[in-house]
Amino acid sequence: MIPPGKALCAAGIIVGLLAFFWRDTFNPDSISGARVLLTGASTGIGEQMAYHYSRFGAEIVLTARRGTLLQKVMEKCLQLGAKQVFYIQADMSSPQAPEKPVLLLIGGLDHLVLNHIGGTPFRMWDGDVEHTRWLMQVNFLSYVALASAALPILAESKGSLIVVSSLTGKISTPFTTSYSATKFALDGFFSSLRHELAMQKQDVCITLCILGLIDTEMALEKTRGKVYMSAYPAAEAALAIIKGGATRAREVFYPWWLELLCCLRDWFPNQRDVVIQSFYNYTSA
Ligand SMILES: NC(=O)c1ccc[n+]([C@@H]2O[C@H](COP(=O)([O-])OP(=O)(O)OC[C@H]3O[C@@H](n4cnc5c(N)ncnc54)[C@H](OP(=O)(O)O)[C@@H]3O)[C@@H](O)[C@H]2O)c1
Ligand SMILES: *[C@@H]1O[C@H](CO)[C@@H](O)[C@H](O)[C@H]1NC(C)=O
Repeated sequence: MIPPGKALCAAGIIVGLLAFFWRDTFNPDSISGARVLLTGASTGIGEQMAYHYSRFGAEIVLTARRGTLLQKVMEKCLQLGAKQVFYIQADMSSPQAPEKPVLLLIGGLDHLVLNHIGGTPFRMWDGDVEHTRWLMQVNFLSYVALASAALPILAESKGSLIVVSSLTGKISTPFTTSYSATKFALDGFFSSLRHELAMQKQDVCITLCILGLIDTEMALEKTRGKVYMSAYPAAEAALAIIKGGATRAREVFYPWWLELLCCLRDWFPNQRDVVIQSFYNYTSA
């Protein structure tokens, strides 16, 4: 038997180590004056990120398709304390679009936040390959194009490349075939690129963000009656992403316990799949 004193001591050391590794090292000053390009900034998590960056005093370029919404977000950003805000309309389903916002970065760039996604149905696979091809362009290829255009600028500033993904980009879930594929693709591309940047001793960090169900209008509307899970607040998800990018974390998990799920992912695959499926309403799709 282990003496209780020693067991307590060991538990204390473990708790201490966990607290050390999970401590919040975020310093808001590191974002004050930072130059940020944020995609998908007209609604949802992107809009919330725009407001947080503004409170921290960043200079922001916003992009999405709808100019009227971007205009409103821009005005609120200025009220909240953003040093400078521009917006540019671009449709990422067009292969030429990603260069447009990058052309605005004459003054340099510190954070590139890739966040936009194309609309996709939340239901069983219906064989629509054309939709998958289109979604790959919007959710994946445009990220690759934006990142490659911005990399030389980020290399100069030793900046952060922040890629917003999803739990379904680490563990596949039902009703998300094409979406899940685009998010897995992001992990493959950007984790490989992270290796190469390290090998070339380039000081650009890549932060991949793994989010659970978040209460954006789009997500709530799509999942209503189809998923038995509660959604987490978009403003908190947005802050977790920003902190991860600013502290140069390789991955961000929000809520935090998704990291445990991802660690355990391949331990009991059959049981895992049964549990996952039990959260989805089969008759709704
Ligand atoms: N909400 C969730 O439950 C959840 C869960 C896990 C991960 N995430 C991730 O979080 C990120 C943000 O999601 P969200 O829930 O905030 O989504 P959202 O509210 O639907 O926002 C999507 C953004 O992308 C823009 N967009 C859509 N199609 C576009 C196109 N063709 N070209 C350029 N921009 C386009 C939209 O603006 P316009 O329509 O004006 O273009 C909007 O600003 C995504 O990467 C998503 O995968 C979300
Ligand atoms: C499952 O979906 C069906 C069909 O849309 C719906 O009638 C039912 O209420 C849903 N079940 C739950 C528990 O939400």
